[in-house]
Amino acid sequence: MDCFRIQGGEKLAGKVLAAGSKNAALPMLAASLLMDDPVRLTRLPALEDIRTMRALLSDLGASVESNDDASEWQISCPAEGPTEAPYEIVRRMRASVAVLGPLLARRGRAKVSLPGGCVIGVRPIDLHLKGLAALGAKIHVKHGEVIAEAPAGGLRGGQVYLASRWGSTVLGTANVMMAATLAKGRTTLDGSAQEPEIVALAEFLNSCGARVAGAGSTQIRIDGVTSLGGGSGRIPADRIETGTLLLAGAATCGDVEVGDCQPTELAVLLDMFQSCGVPFRQGEDWLRVMPWTKRPRALDICCRPYPGFPTDLQAQWMAFSTVAEGLAMVSDSVYPDRFMHVAELNRLGAHIRREGGSAWILGQAQLSGAPVLASDLRASAALVIGGLAASGETIVRRVYHLDRGYQQLERKLSDLGAKVRREVDEEPV
Ligand code: EPU
Repeated sequence: MDCFRIQGGEKLAGKVLAAGSKNAALPMLAASLLMDDPVRLTRLPALEDIRTMRALLSDLGASVESNDDASEWQISCPAEGPTEAPYEIVRRMRASVAVLGPLLARRGRAKVSLPGGCVIGVRPIDLHLKGLAALGAKIHVKHGEVIAEAPAGGLRGGQVYLASRWGSTVLGTANVMMAATLAKGRTTLDGSAQEPEIVALAEFLNSCGARVAGAGSTQIRIDGVTSLGGGSGRIPADRIETGTLLLAGAATCGDVEVGDCQPTELAVLLDMFQSCGVPFRQGEDWLRVMPWTKRPRALDICCRPYPGFPTDLQAQWMAFSTVAEGLAMVSDSVYPDRFMHVAELNRLGAHIRREGGSAWILGQAQLSGAPVLASDLRASAALVIGGLAASGETIVRRVYHLDRGYQQLERKLSDLGAKVRREVDEEPV
Protein backbone atom coordinates (compact mmCIF):
# COMPACT_ATOMS: atom_id res chain seq x y z
CA MET A 1 0.00 0.00 0.00
CA ASP A 2 1.33 3.45 -0.92
CA CYS A 3 1.44 6.64 1.10
CA PHE A 4 2.42 10.24 0.34
CA ARG A 5 5.19 11.88 2.34
CA ILE A 6 4.75 15.66 2.16
CA GLN A 7 7.11 18.36 3.43
CA GLY A 8 4.64 21.21 3.76
CA GLY A 9 5.04 24.95 3.64
CA GLU A 10 6.05 25.36 -0.02
CA LYS A 11 4.08 27.89 -2.05
CA LEU A 12 3.02 26.04 -5.18
CA ALA A 13 3.91 27.72 -8.45
CA GLY A 14 3.74 26.77 -12.10
CA LYS A 15 1.45 25.40 -14.75
CA VAL A 16 -0.08 21.94 -15.19
CA LEU A 17 -2.69 20.52 -17.55
CA ALA A 18 -6.05 19.12 -16.50
CA ALA A 19 -6.65 15.40 -17.02
CA GLY A 20 -9.75 13.92 -18.64
CA SER A 21 -12.71 13.68 -16.30
CA LYS A 22 -13.29 10.38 -14.49
CA ASN A 23 -16.96 11.10 -13.95
CA ALA A 24 -17.52 12.01 -17.61
CA ALA A 25 -15.51 9.04 -18.86
CA LEU A 26 -17.28 6.33 -16.84
CA PRO A 27 -20.79 6.76 -18.33
CA MET A 28 -19.32 7.41 -21.80
CA LEU A 29 -17.51 4.08 -21.56
CA ALA A 30 -20.71 2.37 -20.40
CA ALA A 31 -22.50 3.94 -23.40
CA SER A 32 -20.27 1.95 -25.74
CA LEU A 33 -22.46 -1.06 -24.84
CA LEU A 34 -25.22 0.61 -26.90
CA MET A 35 -23.27 0.91 -30.14
CA ASP A 36 -23.33 -1.40 -33.16
CA ASP A 37 -20.02 -0.08 -34.51
CA PRO A 38 -16.67 0.54 -32.76
CA VAL A 39 -16.34 3.53 -30.46
CA ARG A 40 -13.13 5.54 -30.08
CA LEU A 41 -12.55 7.58 -26.95
CA THR A 42 -9.54 9.80 -26.29
CA ARG A 43 -8.11 11.66 -23.27
CA LEU A 44 -9.05 8.87 -20.90
CA PRO A 45 -7.38 9.36 -17.53
CA ALA A 46 -5.20 6.49 -16.29
CA LEU A 47 -7.12 5.79 -13.09
CA GLU A 48 -8.13 2.79 -11.06
CA ASP A 49 -11.87 3.40 -11.65
CA ILE A 50 -11.32 3.59 -15.40
CA ARG A 51 -9.42 0.27 -15.30
CA THR A 52 -12.31 -1.23 -13.33
CA MET A 53 -14.76 -0.11 -16.02
CA ARG A 54 -12.51 -1.70 -18.63
CA ALA A 55 -12.61 -4.98 -16.72
CA LEU A 56 -16.39 -4.76 -16.53
CA LEU A 57 -16.80 -4.04 -20.26
CA SER A 58 -14.52 -6.98 -21.08
CA ASP A 59 -16.58 -9.17 -18.74
CA LEU A 60 -19.64 -8.11 -20.71
CA GLY A 61 -18.08 -9.31 -23.98
CA ALA A 62 -16.66 -6.04 -25.27
CA SER A 63 -13.26 -5.95 -26.93
CA VAL A 64 -11.17 -3.03 -25.73
CA GLU A 65 -7.92 -1.97 -27.35
CA SER A 66 -5.82 0.93 -26.16
CA ASN A 67 -2.60 2.79 -26.94
CA ASP A 68 0.51 2.55 -24.75
CA ASP A 69 -0.49 5.09 -22.11
CA ALA A 70 -4.13 3.90 -22.17
CA SER A 71 -5.40 7.38 -23.05
CA GLU A 72 -7.09 6.24 -26.28
CA TRP A 73 -9.41 3.27 -26.47
CA GLN A 74 -11.29 1.54 -29.23
CA ILE A 75 -14.26 -0.46 -27.96
CA SER A 76 -16.47 -2.92 -29.86
CA CYS A 77 -19.52 -4.45 -28.21
CA PRO A 78 -21.50 -7.27 -29.80
CA ALA A 79 -25.31 -7.06 -29.58
CA GLU A 80 -25.46 -10.47 -27.94
CA GLY A 81 -23.44 -11.28 -24.85
CA PRO A 82 -23.41 -11.50 -21.08
CA THR A 83 -25.82 -9.27 -19.15
CA GLU A 84 -24.48 -9.53 -15.60
CA ALA A 85 -22.30 -7.08 -13.70
CA PRO A 86 -20.94 -9.13 -10.81
CA TYR A 87 -20.73 -7.98 -7.19
CA GLU A 88 -16.97 -8.47 -7.27
CA ILE A 89 -16.70 -5.50 -9.68
CA VAL A 90 -19.68 -3.40 -8.49
CA ARG A 91 -18.42 -3.39 -4.89
CA ARG A 92 -15.08 -1.98 -6.13
CA MET A 93 -16.75 0.79 -8.07
CA ARG A 94 -20.28 2.03 -7.55
CA ALA A 95 -20.35 3.66 -11.01
CA SER A 96 -20.53 0.12 -12.47
CA VAL A 97 -24.27 0.64 -12.12
CA ALA A 98 -24.03 2.80 -15.28
CA VAL A 99 -24.09 -0.37 -17.41
CA LEU A 100 -27.64 -1.14 -16.26
CA GLY A 101 -29.44 1.14 -18.75
CA PRO A 102 -27.27 0.30 -21.80
CA LEU A 103 -27.45 -3.49 -21.18
CA LEU A 104 -31.20 -3.39 -20.74
CA ALA A 105 -31.70 -1.31 -23.90
CA ARG A 106 -29.38 -3.29 -26.18
CA ARG A 107 -29.51 -6.82 -24.78
CA GLY A 108 -32.99 -6.74 -23.26
CA ARG A 109 -31.87 -7.76 -19.79
CA ALA A 110 -29.44 -6.69 -17.09
CA LYS A 111 -28.46 -8.15 -13.76
CA VAL A 112 -26.37 -5.77 -11.70
CA SER A 113 -25.42 -6.18 -8.07
CA LEU A 114 -26.97 -3.55 -5.88
CA PRO A 115 -24.24 -1.09 -4.92
CA GLY A 116 -24.22 -0.67 -1.17
CA GLY A 117 -23.57 2.58 0.67
CA CYS A 118 -20.03 3.82 1.07
CA VAL A 119 -18.09 6.04 3.44
CA ILE A 120 -19.57 9.19 1.91
CA GLY A 121 -23.09 8.06 2.77
CA VAL A 122 -26.16 6.03 1.83
CA ARG A 123 -26.28 5.83 -1.94
CA PRO A 124 -29.54 4.30 -3.16
CA ILE A 125 -30.39 3.70 -6.84
CA ASP A 126 -34.18 3.88 -6.51
CA LEU A 127 -34.36 6.74 -9.03
CA HIS A 128 -32.41 4.74 -11.65
CA LEU A 129 -34.93 1.92 -11.21
CA LYS A 130 -37.92 4.28 -11.26
CA GLY A 131 -36.70 5.75 -14.55
CA LEU A 132 -36.10 2.37 -16.19
CA ALA A 133 -39.50 1.15 -15.01
CA ALA A 134 -41.05 4.19 -16.72
CA LEU A 135 -39.58 2.82 -19.99
CA GLY A 136 -41.50 -0.43 -19.45
CA ALA A 137 -38.74 -2.49 -17.76
CA LYS A 138 -39.75 -5.13 -15.21
CA ILE A 139 -37.48 -4.75 -12.22
CA HIS A 140 -36.84 -7.16 -9.34
CA VAL A 141 -34.44 -6.70 -6.50
CA LYS A 142 -33.49 -9.98 -4.84
CA HIS A 143 -30.48 -11.36 -2.98
CA GLY A 144 -28.64 -8.07 -3.44
CA GLU A 145 -29.10 -8.08 -7.23
CA VAL A 146 -31.16 -5.87 -9.52
CA ILE A 147 -32.69 -7.81 -12.37
CA ALA A 148 -34.19 -5.64 -15.09
CA GLU A 149 -35.97 -7.04 -18.13
CA ALA A 150 -37.27 -5.19 -21.16
CA PRO A 151 -40.78 -6.07 -22.40
CA ALA A 152 -41.11 -8.36 -25.47
CA GLY A 153 -41.16 -5.50 -28.00
CA GLY A 154 -38.28 -3.64 -26.28
CA LEU A 155 -38.27 -0.51 -24.12
CA ARG A 156 -40.75 2.24 -24.96
CA GLY A 157 -40.54 5.96 -24.31
CA GLY A 158 -42.06 7.34 -21.14
CA GLN A 159 -42.23 10.38 -18.92
CA VAL A 160 -40.59 10.40 -15.50
CA TYR A 161 -39.58 12.83 -12.77
CA LEU A 162 -36.11 11.68 -11.82
CA ALA A 163 -35.20 13.77 -8.77
CA SER A 164 -35.76 13.06 -5.11
CA ARG A 165 -36.71 15.80 -2.69
CA TRP A 166 -32.95 16.20 -2.06
CA GLY A 167 -32.17 16.86 -5.70
CA SER A 168 -31.28 15.23 -8.99
CA THR A 169 -29.18 12.14 -9.65
CA VAL A 170 -26.21 12.24 -12.02
CA LEU A 171 -25.71 8.55 -12.81
CA GLY A 172 -29.48 7.96 -12.60
CA THR A 173 -30.02 10.58 -15.32
CA ALA A 174 -27.18 9.02 -17.36
CA ASN A 175 -28.60 5.51 -16.99
CA VAL A 176 -32.16 6.35 -18.03
CA MET A 177 -30.98 8.68 -20.82
CA MET A 178 -28.80 5.91 -22.28
CA ALA A 179 -31.62 3.34 -22.06
CA ALA A 180 -34.07 5.76 -23.71
CA THR A 181 -31.86 6.26 -26.79
CA LEU A 182 -32.96 2.81 -28.03
CA ALA A 183 -36.56 2.91 -26.70
CA LYS A 184 -39.50 3.32 -29.06
CA GLY A 185 -40.85 6.86 -29.10
CA ARG A 186 -40.14 9.88 -26.94
CA THR A 187 -38.90 9.90 -23.37
CA THR A 188 -39.08 13.01 -21.20
CA LEU A 189 -36.88 13.18 -18.11
CA ASP A 190 -37.92 15.94 -15.73
CA GLY A 191 -35.75 16.84 -12.76
CA SER A 192 -32.65 15.73 -14.73
CA ALA A 193 -29.17 16.35 -13.40
CA GLN A 194 -27.59 19.39 -15.09
CA GLU A 195 -23.97 18.40 -14.51
CA PRO A 196 -21.48 18.96 -17.37
CA GLU A 197 -20.86 15.18 -17.38
CA ILE A 198 -24.48 14.70 -18.51
CA VAL A 199 -23.98 17.22 -21.32
CA ALA A 200 -20.80 15.41 -22.42
CA LEU A 201 -22.63 12.08 -22.44
CA ALA A 202 -25.55 13.48 -24.46
CA GLU A 203 -23.18 15.02 -27.02
CA PHE A 204 -21.35 11.73 -27.36
CA LEU A 205 -24.60 9.77 -27.75
CA ASN A 206 -25.80 12.25 -30.39
CA SER A 207 -22.52 11.91 -32.28
CA CYS A 208 -23.31 8.17 -32.49
CA GLY A 209 -26.80 8.81 -33.92
CA ALA A 210 -28.92 9.30 -30.78
CA ARG A 211 -31.49 12.09 -30.55
CA VAL A 212 -31.10 13.69 -27.15
CA ALA A 213 -32.15 17.30 -26.53
CA GLY A 214 -32.10 19.51 -23.47
CA ALA A 215 -29.06 18.05 -21.68
CA GLY A 216 -27.74 20.64 -19.23
CA SER A 217 -31.29 21.70 -18.33
CA THR A 218 -33.72 20.05 -15.92
CA GLN A 219 -35.71 18.50 -18.77
CA ILE A 220 -34.09 16.08 -21.21
CA ARG A 221 -36.04 14.76 -24.19
CA ILE A 222 -34.92 11.66 -26.03
CA ASP A 223 -36.41 10.39 -29.28
CA GLY A 224 -35.51 6.73 -29.51
CA VAL A 225 -33.76 5.32 -32.59
CA THR A 226 -33.60 1.68 -33.71
CA SER A 227 -29.82 1.45 -33.50
CA LEU A 228 -26.75 3.52 -32.72
CA GLY A 229 -23.63 3.47 -34.88
CA GLY A 230 -20.14 4.01 -33.58
CA GLY A 231 -18.45 7.31 -33.01
CA SER A 232 -15.63 9.05 -31.33
CA GLY A 233 -15.36 11.40 -28.42
CA ARG A 234 -12.79 13.28 -26.35
CA ILE A 235 -13.26 13.12 -22.61
CA PRO A 236 -13.73 16.67 -21.25
CA ALA A 237 -11.44 18.17 -18.60
CA ASP A 238 -11.88 17.02 -15.02
CA ARG A 239 -13.47 20.00 -13.25
CA ILE A 240 -12.91 18.40 -9.85
CA GLU A 241 -9.20 17.78 -10.44
CA THR A 242 -8.91 21.38 -11.72
CA GLY A 243 -10.66 22.71 -8.61
CA THR A 244 -8.47 20.56 -6.36
CA LEU A 245 -5.26 21.93 -7.91
CA LEU A 246 -6.52 25.52 -7.65
CA LEU A 247 -7.46 25.01 -4.00
CA ALA A 248 -4.00 23.53 -3.33
CA GLY A 249 -2.58 26.72 -4.88
CA ALA A 250 -4.88 28.98 -2.84
CA ALA A 251 -4.17 27.12 0.44
CA THR A 252 -0.42 27.57 0.00
CA CYS A 253 -0.62 31.20 -1.18
CA GLY A 254 0.71 29.91 -4.48
CA ASP A 255 0.57 30.83 -8.15
CA VAL A 256 -0.99 27.89 -9.97
CA GLU A 257 -2.30 27.72 -13.52
CA VAL A 258 -4.33 24.80 -14.82
CA GLY A 259 -4.49 24.57 -18.60
CA ASP A 260 -6.80 22.66 -20.96
CA CYS A 261 -9.71 23.01 -18.54
CA GLN A 262 -13.27 24.39 -18.68
CA PRO A 263 -13.43 27.59 -16.54
CA THR A 264 -17.19 28.04 -17.00
CA GLU A 265 -17.82 24.77 -15.14
CA LEU A 266 -16.09 26.18 -12.06
CA ALA A 267 -17.97 29.50 -11.99
CA VAL A 268 -19.14 28.85 -8.42
CA LEU A 269 -15.59 28.23 -7.15
CA LEU A 270 -14.31 31.36 -8.90
CA ASP A 271 -17.12 33.35 -7.33
CA MET A 272 -16.03 32.04 -3.92
CA PHE A 273 -12.41 32.99 -4.66
CA GLN A 274 -13.61 36.47 -5.60
CA SER A 275 -15.60 36.81 -2.36
CA CYS A 276 -12.92 35.49 -0.04
CA GLY A 277 -10.01 37.39 -1.56
CA VAL A 278 -8.03 34.84 -3.60
CA PRO A 279 -6.88 36.63 -6.77
CA PHE A 280 -7.38 34.67 -9.98
CA ARG A 281 -7.38 35.06 -13.73
CA GLN A 282 -9.10 33.05 -16.42
CA GLY A 283 -8.91 32.48 -20.15
CA GLU A 284 -11.02 30.42 -22.48
CA ASP A 285 -9.39 27.15 -21.38
CA TRP A 286 -7.20 28.02 -18.40
CA LEU A 287 -7.47 29.19 -14.83
CA ARG A 288 -4.85 30.66 -12.55
CA VAL A 289 -4.93 31.46 -8.85
CA MET A 290 -2.37 33.94 -7.60
CA PRO A 291 -0.75 34.65 -4.24
CA TRP A 292 -2.87 36.60 -1.82
CA THR A 293 -1.45 39.46 0.22
CA LYS A 294 -4.06 39.26 2.99
CA ARG A 295 -5.27 35.90 4.37
CA PRO A 296 -8.48 34.89 2.54
CA ARG A 297 -11.71 35.30 4.53
CA ALA A 298 -13.50 32.14 5.63
CA LEU A 299 -16.80 31.72 3.75
CA ASP A 300 -19.83 29.47 4.25
CA ILE A 301 -20.71 27.02 1.51
CA CYS A 302 -23.53 24.55 0.98
CA CYS A 303 -22.91 21.84 -1.61
CA ARG A 304 -25.72 21.31 -4.09
CA PRO A 305 -26.16 19.73 -7.52
CA TYR A 306 -24.67 21.66 -10.47
CA PRO A 307 -24.45 24.63 -10.91
CA GLY A 308 -24.16 24.74 -7.11
CA PHE A 309 -20.92 24.17 -5.22
CA PRO A 310 -19.86 20.56 -6.03
CA THR A 311 -19.91 18.02 -3.21
CA ASP A 312 -16.78 16.56 -4.84
CA LEU A 313 -14.90 19.75 -3.86
CA GLN A 314 -16.37 20.04 -0.36
CA ALA A 315 -13.47 18.33 1.43
CA GLN A 316 -10.85 20.29 -0.53
CA TRP A 317 -12.67 23.57 0.17
CA MET A 318 -12.72 22.64 3.84
CA ALA A 319 -8.95 22.01 3.77
CA PHE A 320 -8.46 25.48 2.24
CA SER A 321 -10.82 27.00 4.85
CA THR A 322 -8.71 25.62 7.70
CA VAL A 323 -6.08 28.26 6.86
CA ALA A 324 -8.52 31.09 6.02
CA GLU A 325 -9.34 33.92 8.42
CA GLY A 326 -12.45 33.57 10.57
CA LEU A 327 -15.28 31.09 11.05
CA ALA A 328 -17.09 29.28 8.22
CA MET A 329 -19.82 26.69 7.95
CA VAL A 330 -19.66 23.95 5.32
CA SER A 331 -22.81 21.92 4.65
CA ASP A 332 -23.42 19.22 2.10
CA SER A 333 -26.98 18.72 0.95
CA VAL A 334 -25.94 16.05 -1.58
CA TYR A 335 -24.08 13.80 0.89
CA PRO A 336 -24.85 15.06 4.42
CA ASP A 337 -22.50 12.42 5.90
CA ARG A 338 -19.47 13.20 3.75
CA PHE A 339 -17.28 14.39 6.61
CA MET A 340 -14.74 11.63 7.22
CA HIS A 341 -11.91 14.12 6.58
CA VAL A 342 -12.89 16.32 9.55
CA ALA A 343 -11.15 14.27 12.23
CA GLU A 344 -8.03 13.80 10.09
CA LEU A 345 -7.78 17.52 9.22
CA ASN A 346 -8.02 18.19 12.96
CA ARG A 347 -4.94 15.99 13.39
CA LEU A 348 -3.15 18.62 11.28
CA GLY A 349 -4.14 21.30 13.78
CA ALA A 350 -7.38 22.41 12.09
CA HIS A 351 -10.26 23.48 14.31
CA ILE A 352 -13.35 21.85 12.83
CA ARG A 353 -16.49 20.75 14.64
CA ARG A 354 -19.09 18.67 12.90
CA GLU A 355 -22.78 19.10 13.66
CA GLY A 356 -25.03 16.79 11.66
CA GLY A 357 -24.84 17.65 7.96
CA SER A 358 -22.60 20.67 8.59
CA ALA A 359 -19.16 21.44 9.92
CA TRP A 360 -17.84 24.63 11.52
CA ILE A 361 -14.27 25.58 10.70
CA LEU A 362 -12.28 28.16 12.63
CA GLY A 363 -9.37 29.14 10.38
CA GLN A 364 -5.83 28.85 11.76
CA ALA A 365 -2.79 30.85 10.76
CA GLN A 366 -0.76 27.63 10.44
CA LEU A 367 -1.42 23.88 10.38
CA SER A 368 1.22 21.42 11.53
CA GLY A 369 2.10 18.21 9.73
CA ALA A 370 1.12 14.79 11.11
CA PRO A 371 0.42 11.24 9.89
CA VAL A 372 -3.19 10.99 8.63
CA LEU A 373 -5.40 8.32 7.17
CA ALA A 374 -7.36 8.78 3.93
CA SER A 375 -10.91 7.41 4.00
CA ASP A 376 -12.15 8.11 0.48
CA LEU A 377 -11.20 9.81 -2.76
CA ARG A 378 -11.96 13.48 -2.09
CA ALA A 379 -11.06 13.21 1.61
CA SER A 380 -7.60 12.07 0.47
CA ALA A 381 -7.27 15.17 -1.71
CA ALA A 382 -8.24 17.36 1.25
CA LEU A 383 -5.56 15.75 3.42
CA VAL A 384 -2.96 16.33 0.71
CA ILE A 385 -3.97 20.03 0.56
CA GLY A 386 -3.81 20.20 4.36
CA GLY A 387 -0.35 18.60 4.31
CA LEU A 388 0.91 21.04 1.67
CA ALA A 389 -0.27 24.01 3.73
CA ALA A 390 1.05 22.63 7.05
CA SER A 391 4.51 23.15 8.47
CA GLY A 392 6.69 20.04 8.74
CA GLU A 393 5.98 16.53 7.55
CA THR A 394 2.62 14.96 6.77
CA ILE A 395 2.19 11.33 5.79
CA VAL A 396 -1.09 10.56 4.01
CA ARG A 397 -1.78 6.83 4.26
CA ARG A 398 -4.08 4.72 2.03
CA VAL A 399 -3.60 6.85 -1.08
CA TYR A 400 -5.18 4.07 -3.13
CA HIS A 401 -8.37 6.07 -2.54
CA LEU A 402 -6.72 9.04 -4.24
CA ASP A 403 -5.55 6.91 -7.16
CA ARG A 404 -9.18 6.11 -8.02
CA GLY A 405 -9.73 9.68 -9.18
CA TYR A 406 -6.44 11.56 -9.58
CA GLN A 407 -3.91 10.59 -12.20
CA GLN A 408 -0.46 10.83 -10.60
CA LEU A 409 -1.40 13.76 -8.43
CA GLU A 410 2.02 13.65 -6.77
CA ARG A 411 3.67 14.27 -10.14
CA LYS A 412 1.50 17.30 -10.90
CA LEU A 413 2.10 18.69 -7.41
CA SER A 414 5.87 18.12 -7.76
CA ASP A 415 5.77 19.98 -11.07
CA LEU A 416 4.26 22.86 -9.08
CA GLY A 417 7.17 22.73 -6.63
CA ALA A 418 5.54 20.70 -3.87
CA LYS A 419 7.76 18.40 -1.83
CA VAL A 420 5.68 15.26 -2.10
CA ARG A 421 6.88 11.69 -2.56
CA ARG A 422 4.98 8.46 -3.10
CA GLU A 423 6.38 5.68 -0.94
CA VAL A 424 5.51 2.15 -0.05
CA ASP A 425 3.91 2.36 3.37
CA GLU A 426 5.73 0.02 5.72
CA GLU A 427 3.30 0.60 8.60
CA PRO A 428 0.55 -1.99 9.01
CA VAL A 429 -2.90 -0.33 8.69
N1 EPU B 1 -29.89 9.45 -4.77
C1 EPU B 1 -31.09 8.88 -4.43
N2 EPU B 1 -31.60 7.92 -5.26
C2 EPU B 1 -30.97 7.52 -6.39
C3 EPU B 1 -29.74 8.10 -6.71
C4 EPU B 1 -29.22 9.08 -5.89
O1 EPU B 1 -31.69 9.22 -3.42
O2 EPU B 1 -31.49 6.64 -7.08
C5 EPU B 1 -29.32 10.50 -3.90
C6 EPU B 1 -27.93 10.11 -3.35
O3 EPU B 1 -28.04 9.35 -2.18
C7 EPU B 1 -27.30 11.44 -3.14
C8 EPU B 1 -27.87 12.30 -4.26
O4 EPU B 1 -29.05 11.63 -4.69
O5 EPU B 1 -27.73 11.99 -1.92
C9 EPU B 1 -26.95 12.48 -5.46
O6 EPU B 1 -26.46 11.23 -5.92
P1 EPU B 1 -26.10 10.99 -7.43
O7 EPU B 1 -26.94 9.87 -7.93
O8 EPU B 1 -26.16 12.27 -8.19
O9 EPU B 1 -24.60 10.49 -7.35
P2 EPU B 1 -23.91 9.51 -8.36
O10 EPU B 1 -24.45 9.77 -9.71
O11 EPU B 1 -23.93 8.14 -7.84
C10 EPU B 1 -21.96 11.08 -9.12
C11 EPU B 1 -20.47 11.09 -9.02
C12 EPU B 1 -20.06 11.35 -7.58
C13 EPU B 1 -20.64 12.69 -7.15
C14 EPU B 1 -22.16 12.67 -7.32
C15 EPU B 1 -22.82 13.99 -7.00
C16 EPU B 1 -19.80 9.57 -10.75
C17 EPU B 1 -19.16 8.30 -11.13
N3 EPU B 1 -19.94 9.81 -9.46
O12 EPU B 1 -22.41 10.01 -8.28
O13 EPU B 1 -18.64 11.44 -7.60
O14 EPU B 1 -20.32 12.94 -5.80
O15 EPU B 1 -22.49 12.33 -8.68
O16 EPU B 1 -22.31 14.99 -7.79
O17 EPU B 1 -20.15 10.37 -11.61
C18 EPU B 1 -16.47 11.36 -6.73
O18 EPU B 1 -16.03 11.51 -7.88
O19 EPU B 1 -15.74 11.48 -5.71
C19 EPU B 1 -17.88 11.06 -6.54
C20 EPU B 1 -18.34 10.50 -5.43
